[in-house]
Amino acid sequence: MNVGILGTGHYVPTKVMTNKDMEKIVDTTDEWIRTRTGIEERRFAEDGIDTSDMSYYAAKEALKEANISPEEIDLILVATVTPDTPFPSVACTIQDRLGATNAAALDIGAACAGFVYGLVTATQFVKAGAYKHVLVVGADKLSKIIDWEDRSTCVLLGDGAGAVVVGEVGEGKGVLSFELGSKGSGGKDLLQNKEGFMEMNGREVFKFAVRQMPESTVNVVEKIALAKEDVDYLVPHQANIRIMDAARERLGISSDKMAKTITKYGNNSSASIPMALSESVKNGNIKDNDLIVLVGFGGGLAWGAAAIRWGV
Ligand code: ACO
Repeated sequence: MNVGILGTGHYVPTKVMTNKDMEKIVDTTDEWIRTRTGIEERRFAEDGIDTSDMSYYAAKEALKEANISPEEIDLILVATVTPDTPFPSVACTIQDRLGATNAAALDIGAACAGFVYGLVTATQFVKAGAYKHVLVVGADKLSKIIDWEDRSTCVLLGDGAGAVVVGEVGEGKGVLSFELGSKGSGGKDLLQNKEGFMEMNGREVFKFAVRQMPESTVNVVEKIALAKEDVDYLVPHQANIRIMDAARERLGISSDKMAKTITKYGNNSSASIPMALSESVKNGNIKDNDLIVLVGFGGGLAWGAAAIRWGV
């Protein structure tokens, strides 16, 4: 059975914060942020909007695009590091709000790689014949864990959510290969500290990511005996344009063949990949039959990649 993505959705908060706005808060410059990260502005959730609200809006759109009713969902997986509360899970909260009365629900903690972990898990449930439709959401309200005294992290982050519905697709389509991995010894380099803030050893994470992202990207393509040249579009985790470009260059594809939401949304952790994916589908950058690669890495350290032949 071939299993893939039946519909995508995303939610972008309306509150825009430019690099110039950041200059008023911390000792930084628009030029430093742009050249080191590629970020021009980011979005923060409005007051009263939490991770489950953003997840709900993204999920509604994905269900609509997939033409699936909430009752037809068998399982909800929400990748997040910023749930409204540790329990109930965001997945249970949106299960109720969507009216997905037949769905099991749980949250997944694999930081910025969480959405790929969720997508791969969903694919296995459907392939095994256990479930028909799985809703996978990546959502984060990173503004809840930003340390505004740390200029090296606060300028990077933003809020948002993205979602997909996973189910059976036609011959040759869907998730064709994947790679998941973790390196717990690197956990100390990227974490939520005792004060509740995100803390990062930027140089170490950069070194890790700039090697891992290109490697995983090529691995999933080679697993299906295709060549780098066969890749039509890359959807990387939006952490830093220099890391994203390293992955893109290993595939030898041009800049217009890579999703680049980082410029306007910053790094949205679990939400980055599904937001970029949904936007790329909506603006026509991903077309039927395209070979696309999703690749992410983050706290854990954890990483994941998937090669998908697009379409139903
Ligand atoms: N504005 C101005 N200067 C700054 C800022 C800032 N916002 N932040 C740091 N600096 C300074 C530092 O203090 C340092 O100054 P010094 O040399 O006087 O000590 C200088 O800039 C260089 O600092 P570096 O850390 O070497 O800068 P680098 O080029 O490595 O860029 C960055 C920092 C952008 C964080 C980079 O290391 C990076 O992208 N790392 C990976 C981050 C990442 O991918 N995170 C993903 C996981 S997080 C998540 O996804 C939720």
